[in-house]
Amino acid sequence: MHKDLFIPGPTEVRPEILKEMSKPMIGHRSKEFTQLYEKVIPKLKKVLYTDQKVFLSTSSSTGVMESAVRNCSNKKILSCVCGAFSDRWNKIAEANGKDADRIEVEWGKAIKPEMVDKALSTGKYDAITFVHNETSTGVMNPLEEVAEVMKKYPDVMFLVDAVSSMVGYKIEVDKLGIDVCLAGVQKCWALPPGLTVFSVSDKALEKAKTVKNRGYYFDFLTFLKYDDKRHQTPATPAISIIYALDKQLDNILAEGPENRFKRHREMAEITRTWTKKYFGLFAEPGYESPTVTAVKNTRDISVSDLREKLNEKGYAISNGYGKLKQQTFRIAHMGDHTVEDIKKLLSVIDDILGLG
Ligand SMILES: Cc1ncc(COP(=O)(O)O)c(C=O)c1O
Repeated sequence: MHKDLFIPGPTEVRPEILKEMSKPMIGHRSKEFTQLYEKVIPKLKKVLYTDQKVFLSTSSSTGVMESAVRNCSNKKILSCVCGAFSDRWNKIAEANGKDADRIEVEWGKAIKPEMVDKALSTGKYDAITFVHNETSTGVMNPLEEVAEVMKKYPDVMFLVDAVSSMVGYKIEVDKLGIDVCLAGVQKCWALPPGLTVFSVSDKALEKAKTVKNRGYYFDFLTFLKYDDKRHQTPATPAISIIYALDKQLDNILAEGPENRFKRHREMAEITRTWTKKYFGLFAEPGYESPTVTAVKNTRDISVSDLREKLNEKGYAISNGYGKLKQQTFRIAHMGDHTVEDIKKLLSVIDDILGLG
């Protein structure tokens, strides 16, 4: 039986999108591919609110997290760590031989702008890694406030993982001065995994020119060259997913990005109200994610039993991430799900747990 996915990625993909992926294959150096690319990129710029470059990477988000640190730093990186994925970005930096310091808060808490300001004021750093929405803890970090701080440090690259927030929350890339903004398409985009969308500022491209050992597959300047000269990707891309992306961009623009963000906010509010009534929120108050709620397991239920029973009824939610496996469980409200879908899921959980 198919399970309706309320996990924080991959998310549910509509049948019409899956159908788009069964289109006949085309060559990635063909005129047809260039036409597809030329359709997709301007629409991507629209939903990311940027006039700068947007590239497509055939990889999951982790690949572009690696790419960003490789291309944008030759001094020292400041890693803002508040959960599993922000921790991963720091480890990626180190694994690539980059010098990186951490500022860190307890899981469930948010990174505050003052912390970033204090660290950057030392002048030691030329890039920060910032996970906008920490999927592991259900925390949304204050992107706009940190962006304000970043304006004081124009030479520091602002690298943003928007993996579980892009197109579920309004991110105005140019206005916020984000140098790299990346997200795999299997979360709020509601597409199958395998492709990552990322914006790169002109400043980041200039910076990349000064950085040695940018690698090969993920070299920003190679993406730039193929984009400029051919309107294509450097290597063979996941063409089927790009077909799906093209269709989904039309759907997003037809829904209206603002409506999409509002729908995400509404789904989050319903989930939070339910969570506060029966359990507790894991996220620090004021920093709850609009796309995924980490529910504190205050009733000490068996998270695996709940997930199993939900599976039997055709639904999937996630356990807590890593060390939070039994302490929390996560309900994702992202992608193409509706308020009605979330209400239905919560009522099924009510039935299973005898709540309400
Ligand atoms: C915030 C965040 N960053 C990075 C990743 C890594 O993505 P992937 O496993 O698709 O490379 C995830 C995956 O869930 C995530 O939620």
